[in-house]
Amino acid sequence: MTLAEQFTALDNLLYATRQYWQCTAFDYDELPWTSLSAPLAQLSDNDVAKLDSDQDALYRFFSPLIEGVEQLPKLSALSAAQAKRTDYPFWISNGIKGRKFEQLQDFVAALGVPTEPVLEWCAGKGHLGRMLAYNKAPKVHSIELQQHLCEQGQHSAQQQGLAMKFSQADVLTDDVAHYFETQQHAVALHACGALHQSFMQQACSAQTQQISLSPCCYHLFTDDMYEAMSELAKCSKLNMRHRDLKLALQETVTAPSRVAKVRKTEVEWRLGFDAMRKEITGSTTYVSVPSVNKAVFSDSFKSFCAWAADKKALEIPQDIDYEYFLLKGQVRKKVTERIELVRHVFRRAIEVWLVLDRALYLQQQGYQVTVNTFCEKQLTPRNILIKARLPI
Ligand SMILES: C[S@@+](CC[C@H](N)C(=O)[O-])C[C@H]1O[C@@H](n2cnc3c(N)ncnc32)[C@H](O)[C@@H]1O
Repeated sequence: MTLAEQFTALDNLLYATRQYWQCTAFDYDELPWTSLSAPLAQLSDNDVAKLDSDQDALYRFFSPLIEGVEQLPKLSALSAAQAKRTDYPFWISNGIKGRKFEQLQDFVAALGVPTEPVLEWCAGKGHLGRMLAYNKAPKVHSIELQQHLCEQGQHSAQQQGLAMKFSQADVLTDDVAHYFETQQHAVALHACGALHQSFMQQACSAQTQQISLSPCCYHLFTDDMYEAMSELAKCSKLNMRHRDLKLALQETVTAPSRVAKVRKTEVEWRLGFDAMRKEITGSTTYVSVPSVNKAVFSDSFKSFCAWAADKKALEIPQDIDYEYFLLKGQVRKKVTERIELVRHVFRRAIEVWLVLDRALYLQQQGYQVTVNTFCEKQLTPRNILIKARLPI
């Protein structure tokens, strides 16, 4: 299957099944799909959590229930890069946490031997660039917004005698086109949304020989309505919005149980407050309350409601029954989690759709393009690598 064929098949399937994922769980008091009510009601909270952390089990559970799901594993599949990790001296990995270092080792291995000068986009402290410089890339130029990260990166590179320089720049507002060259390998690891999109566009304009990127946070720094990059995706009827793009990021490595517990309380309290607000105001739509320091959720539901009411300019009557609304929140959370579970069946497919849009855009610009996974998803669920090269 070509990338274009894979994209078209995925696009058709996502369009046919959009009622299951193109929705906002908080909008519903009850499950919006009657055919799924019985099977979802049979799941305990523990079953929901287990299914949610195992994408293959999710596909198996929903294949007999939603037409088309049985095709998702094949259409979202990407082959692994199969490159062998190399070892580095301890001083290269200093200051890089375990999983991140393994992720970087796999990413660097999948890029192949660096023969061209490297442009490293949204570099942070330039860990990736330092590893490429250590692997004998002729030189590395790292671009980063935060001055202190540039300084720290430059300091490490100097101490380690690596051919690397940093430039501080805001890649969205500064003139950065001149950093791209033809004889260059432009790399971007986990540059968010518009940061990697403008990277791709500028690298193509400069006819940069090689472009490699692992995209993430597809919605960031972009308009709510998704603007497709490739001609094929421009013809799609999906009309993706931020809400849908965020779904692509929801395959996470399981959060530690303490974090999960706070998150559970947070969702229950937010939904309980929402039920209270609806009752007081007569409104029927969900209104979000801003994010807040998690410490708030170790206090009481009553104090959370006082804080939220202040944010929403709502007056809570003295005799309100907090227990009643807390219970409503707990019941609604069960509904929300089950809607989210159904949406999660499609999360990887949406990410692959977004990645293929980028890959097809690069093909359109004359590049030979491959799309692979570069590491296990336990190291990072954002494990997709797009590699593009101009034909010689
Ligand atoms: C998720 S981090 C990735 C860092 C590094 N590439 C890695 O994988 O370890 C994203 C980086 O992009 C930088 N960044 C965010 N907005 C930027 C902008 N407008 N211009 C340049 N860099 C930006 C951030 O400061 C951050 O260091």
